[in-house]
Amino acid sequence: MELIRTVDAMQAHADAARADGQTLALVPTLGALHDGHLALVRRALEAADHVTVSVFVNPTQFGPGEDYDTYPRDLGGDRETLRALDVDTLFAPSVEEMYPYSDDEALPGPLAWVDMVRLDEHLCGAHREDHFRGVTTVVTKLFHACKPDVAVFGKKDAQQYVILQRLAEDLLFDIDIVGVPTVREPDGLAQSSRNEYLDPDEREQATVLYEAVTAAEEAIEGGEQAAEAVVGAMENALAAAPDADVQYAELVDAHTLQPVDHLAPGQEVLAAVAVFFGDTRLIDNTFVQVPASPS
Ligand code: PAF
Repeated sequence: MELIRTVDAMQAHADAARADGQTLALVPTLGALHDGHLALVRRALEAADHVTVSVFVNPTQFGPGEDYDTYPRDLGGDRETLRALDVDTLFAPSVEEMYPYSDDEALPGPLAWVDMVRLDEHLCGAHREDHFRGVTTVVTKLFHACKPDVAVFGKKDAQQYVILQRLAEDLLFDIDIVGVPTVREPDGLAQSSRNEYLDPDEREQATVLYEAVTAAEEAIEGGEQAAEAVVGAMENALAAAPDADVQYAELVDAHTLQPVDHLAPGQEVLAAVAVFFGDTRLIDNTFVQVPASPS
């Protein structure tokens, strides 16, 4: 596996693989790889001849007071993990490489941003100002650096996944955006690099996120059509954890990401929650198809 640190070298490497007739897949990550990421890598290995995994803790998607400085970093460990999986390329640029004009005195950058409107109004977007602007900007840069045919993302970050699908369509990227279902611990907790911040008591309580989205799924599949009742089912499940500080429990249309009042038969919706345990923010969600005729 090749470790590449610069955009120029990455572009040359991608061009060479393409000239050789290979198809290219990219798995963008923040690193500190866990089983959830490995599921993305395995999907990428199925989808293309040549797989690049990027590891870059992107400063522009972390807000003031968020965990950019303390976000887990383990490039050595990630490298070993990816080598064992037969990944072709690890792209691990520095912040200076991805944001070259940050320290420019006359015109500190970045000056060009990729911004997504409407889809960032609710869920995480309502609580993390400029987060998705940071994500769409860095993913655009990673697409230009790595030149993939396919890019693989986790559906655990459901809003990000929907936004990136639309980004690729709106900006005419000739890239298939593939979503991989959330990988869970045996008790249902969604795998996340942030789970390691939880103390044992918080870790035990954190299963309420999964219980909440499962309660929403069961209510909808059982024929509930009032969004308020579905949200109520999620809130009840979250209330079982005494230390859970709920940021949101919401039900939105899966394509527009706008809130729904009344669920329409056949509609696809997204039930999502974000919860703090101390300083640790966890999210979970489920995409649900409203039954064609309520049972
Ligand atoms: O989902 C993530 O890990 C990040 O938001 C991403 C897509 C790698 C962009 O930094």
